[in-house]
Amino acid sequence: MATRQIILRGDEVLGRMCRPVTSFDSRLHQLLDDMRETLDQAQGYGLAAPQVGILRRVCLVTNTDGEYVELVNPEIVAAEGEQGGYEGCLSVPGLYGWVKRPQRVRVRAQDRDGKTFEVEDVDMSARCFCHEIAHLDGHLFTELVEGPLYTEEELDAAQARQERRKKGRRGE
Ligand code: NI
Repeated sequence: MATRQIILRGDEVLGRMCRPVTSFDSRLHQLLDDMRETLDQAQGYGLAAPQVGILRRVCLVTNTDGEYVELVNPEIVAAEGEQGGYEGCLSVPGLYGWVKRPQRVRVRAQDRDGKTFEVEDVDMSARCFCHEIAHLDGHLFTELVEGPLYTEEELDAAQARQERRKKGRRGE
């Protein structure tokens, strides 16, 4: 396994449409292994193949149990509810923005050996599934952000303000 370099916003590769995977071979397995190591090292939540320069429909997401799920040729087959939350991306380091996503999604994908499966998840994981699958169509979360993009310090301050407002509403 090896880590791969993460491509940053501004590189046209991140805006391209990825092609489906048709060969479930050792190259795919190597890509997935490398993506896992890259994601581990970056301490991220998810990673899509175009972020390491590979224009194939492959991504890694973190489920609610904190495990990585490998998704090959994923598609969202059902979505329900809505959640808002601050989101970031390893290709947009240090910037965060408020994005609305479905509360729950169901995804159909293939595993590294080509076997089709379905997986359903909620909350942060549903957000991660949507974010990573959007990368495969050349979309970044920054296209969906409502309001400003915050730096880490600004985000901390914004969240602290939000906390204070919540407490205020509860009369504490
Ligand atoms: Ni991302």
